[in-house]
Amino acid sequence: MQTRVTVLDESRPLEPQLRHAADTLRRGGLVAFPTETVYGLGANALDRQAVLNIFAAKGRPADNPLIAHIASFEGLHRLTDEVDARAQKLAEAFWPGPLTMIFTRRAQVPAELSAGMDTVAVRMPSHPAARALISLAGVPVAAPSANLSGRPSPTCGRYVQEDLMGRVDEIVIDGDCAVGIESTVLSFSGPEPIILRPGAVTKEMLEQVIGPVRLHHAATENLKEGEKAASPGMKYKHYAPEAHVILVEGPGFAPFVRDKLNETTAAMCFLETANELPEGAPVFPYASRSDERSQGARIFTLLRDMDKRGFTKVYCEAPEKSGVGLAVYNRLVRAAGFEVIRL
Ligand code: TXA
Ligand code: MG
Repeated sequence: MQTRVTVLDESRPLEPQLRHAADTLRRGGLVAFPTETVYGLGANALDRQAVLNIFAAKGRPADNPLIAHIASFEGLHRLTDEVDARAQKLAEAFWPGPLTMIFTRRAQVPAELSAGMDTVAVRMPSHPAARALISLAGVPVAAPSANLSGRPSPTCGRYVQEDLMGRVDEIVIDGDCAVGIESTVLSFSGPEPIILRPGAVTKEMLEQVIGPVRLHHAATENLKEGEKAASPGMKYKHYAPEAHVILVEGPGFAPFVRDKLNETTAAMCFLETANELPEGAPVFPYASRSDERSQGARIFTLLRDMDKRGFTKVYCEAPEKSGVGLAVYNRLVRAAGFEVIRL
């Protein structure tokens, strides 16, 4: 397949630059596009075949449902007939933005979008190009992250090209993603709303609007043997480079890792920790310990870099499990396949 690449020019109006991609979506084609979290691999969410083509292009397991992206509340009503009052409040507070909410799926919405579940995940992204593209296409846009299944989510156009050239109709590029980790996924299936995947809209932020929210235990630990995944994405090893990733928790990361670093073994850690390690050692700082948002924006780039630089093993210093740090922890522990060393 010939892939058209469109690099957006911010000095020109967006819409004419996105018209071709919007037509491609409407015709049932596949278009990768930027969002504020990570790049998405989009198709018309109401077109069954187009949705199936997403799974094929990514090599995604058929039982892992997709998120439908909308540009307005009108889009939401094409996907669901029931909007919980709490969801309404959260949408007012955090949409457009990095929050995905799970609703009951309307019968007209292809079951393949939701991998056969009777729910549908919906998000209204804030990235101007994403919003313009969805509006122009005039349909909800199904989009998982624009990586090959299992690889780190792409936070810049180059990574999308690495994974998807020749596999999709068009790639729209517009710089780096500001958030850098995928949206918070929230379900209302229980008495208390439950976070299935932590993200930049934190538990604390949600609770300020609707009161107590639970965090699914799979956000920080492996599913128990035989346990059913509330969100199928929980089951899969994710976000992983080829390199063997090990998460290290507790104080004393620098002394622990110092003697292990060499041409094949690297460390990813906070800036402050990096300063405790010898200059010239293979040490890749996420950001300062207190700057969780910058950590989030860096981790997928760093994880992809490990393979390019030829490292086969990476020790990662664990972030705090609160605020956005929790989302960063979640991505790292999954990249590590839940292999954690506690100091
Ligand atoms: O930030 C994001 O959410 C990005 C950008 C492109 O918007 N998209 C993204 O999509 O991360 P994806 O497919 O990589 O992750 C979707 C997650 C998966 O963990 C999936 O299991 C969960 O959402 N999910 C989707 N539909 C669901 C549903 N109906 N019930 C429970 N979980 C669902
Ligand atoms: Mg993904």
